[in-house]
Amino acid sequence: MTAELLAAVRAAFDAVGAARPFLAEWPEMGPLRDVQPASLPVCQWLSTMGTAGIVGILRAAAPSLRWQQTYGVGDFGADFLQGYGWAEFIGLRGPYPSTQIACGVLLLGPHITYPAHAHAAEEVYVPIFGQAEWQQGDGPFAPVPVGQPIHHAPWVPHAMRVGAEPLAALYLWRGGDLAAKSVILGA
Ligand SMILES: [Fe+2]
Repeated sequence: MTAELLAAVRAAFDAVGAARPFLAEWPEMGPLRDVQPASLPVCQWLSTMGTAGIVGILRAAAPSLRWQQTYGVGDFGADFLQGYGWAEFIGLRGPYPSTQIACGVLLLGPHITYPAHAHAAEEVYVPIFGQAEWQQGDGPFAPVPVGQPIHHAPWVPHAMRVGAEPLAALYLWRGGDLAAKSVILGA
């Protein structure tokens, strides 16, 4: 985890109105937590995302990040786990400690569907690569381009469908248990 990546993540959220209350809790830079790097199968897709901008910075930092999964094979099956993972930058587990917000990046591989789930935390996503389809509640799946924020109020069900290109999306969490596993609503 590099200061360059953290600065780029912060800049990506600075222009997002819905992120303002989260950014008010952005941690002061103190000692970093020592986090052991770990990779996942989904990390293979980073190399297909080019080297421009924040994606390039993320790619360079990726080997130093701890890529993790909240779900097991019994949740959405083994194929999902081959194309799913996240790395936390800020929070209860990431290198930058915070008890108020979590911030990281979610990766989903091509043709992965992340079924409907919900959590107590309020959430803001900003896609940085790929154009997945996103759904909230009973609404339609709608494509969300890179840079367009998505806001989930607490406990609003949401789902994602990824097409031919993988997805990388920055996230912010605020409220509730910042390390909670989501409640699964559809599979
Ligand atoms: Fe979520």
